Amino acid sequence: MSKTLSIKNKIKKFNKQIQVSGDKSLSIRWVLLASQAIGKSKGYNLLMSEDVLAALDSIKKLGIKVKIHNKYCEILGEGINGFKYKKNLTINAKNSGTLGRLILGLLIKSPKKIRLIGDKSLSKRDFSRITLPLEKFGAKFYYKTKNKLPLSILGSQSAKGIKYLEDKGSAQCKSSVMLAALNSSGTTTIKAKKSRNHSELLFKYLKIPIRVKKTKNYDFIDIKQPKKIMAFDYQIPGDISSSAFFIVLTILANNSKLLIKNVNINPSRIGVITILKKMGAKISLRNQKDYRGERISDILIQSSNNLKGINCPSKLNSSAIDEFLVIFLVAAKAKGISYFKDLAELNQKESPRLNWGSKILNMMGVKTELTKDSIKIYGQPDLKITKSITIKNYLKDHRIFMMSTIAALTFGGQWKIHNKDSINSSFPTFLKIIKIINNK
Ligand code: S3P
Repeated sequence: MSKTLSIKNKIKKFNKQIQVSGDKSLSIRWVLLASQAIGKSKGYNLLMSEDVLAALDSIKKLGIKVKIHNKYCEILGEGINGFKYKKNLTINAKNSGTLGRLILGLLIKSPKKIRLIGDKSLSKRDFSRITLPLEKFGAKFYYKTKNKLPLSILGSQSAKGIKYLEDKGSAQCKSSVMLAALNSSGTTTIKAKKSRNHSELLFKYLKIPIRVKKTKNYDFIDIKQPKKIMAFDYQIPGDISSSAFFIVLTILANNSKLLIKNVNINPSRIGVITILKKMGAKISLRNQKDYRGERISDILIQSSNNLKGINCPSKLNSSAIDEFLVIFLVAAKAKGISYFKDLAELNQKESPRLNWGSKILNMMGVKTELTKDSIKIYGQPDLKITKSITIKNYLKDHRIFMMSTIAALTFGGQWKIHNKDSINSSFPTFLKIIKIINNK
């Protein structure tokens, strides 16, 4: 059984420098693309979390050699469609929607049925959003329960490029179709609502024939099947989604300062910074540099006493989708009412996060108005919690656990937060870093 974290004291004033672990989206994409390349690729600062380890296990089951060294991970790719495996193979994506959805894109030619399973949380999430477009390539899917894992995929040898409209702003859907395009003859054309663009940048870097035309709300992407992908080394930068917990910890703490080194600040990921700055947070980017199309920077944060509510423009939703839970904590302390809308996707995550965000704020004594796709948060600049709060029964969602920890450390009260192990999906060193920050 997973352990419970008890917090009784607020975090002390701090002035520290930290580094968070590697970006999860880039780690999983590197693993999957390296498996399709020819020869030895090395990934440095790869996130060693359960989601990424599940990705490594999956490609191993598909016949790809993986070696984990102290400083890097090595993958011996077998080229596009180079997977080799026995009959009745089962792949376990565990808690990872990104792995579950992206890997299906690589399997659209699989000559034998492959079963995909996941944990309790992933088995509640919708897979039709990805099996519908992949069926258009020619793959067949077999569900036990409609649109939910477990499912089986049987590929088609004559997979052909498709035309696809991605209108949820989901990078998982877009990327799964992009990976399927590697295995299909002809051109795949995608019209995609704006979402994180790591796959596009990696395709460009790998010289896969890709064209991206950007318009205000949509990107138009054309991909032609490449002849081959060459092995590539990659240095994974720090994860902005993991950094967000410490950004908010610092904003809400007393008189504190934090420098987070070497974080990926790809413009399609930094909605959290834009939103928090609009709310009056003191955040600045230092020492910016480019790395293979990605942008990397140190982030300097200072505590703030003058936070104000926001009517958050929904065009920022996709670039902050994993950070809303901690953004809600800032709204709880801000002056005035904050309003976040068009956020139905937030209930499609590892747990229904829009509902849970509201529930936790209510437990903290913060008033909210919740609909199925929006939340109003009535901020309390003087919010201080003195009561006991227990957070449990939330499908072991890592981000619910970490959000609750940040709330406990900044608003006070006596907290018991269940499922300590949930952090292993995305950020196993989360509590160690908290300790470093809290020790003089
Ligand atoms: C991810 C995309 C997002 C995000 C997830 C990681 C990715 O999901 O929530 O944590 O790496 O592509 P959606 O594509 O469902 O929005």
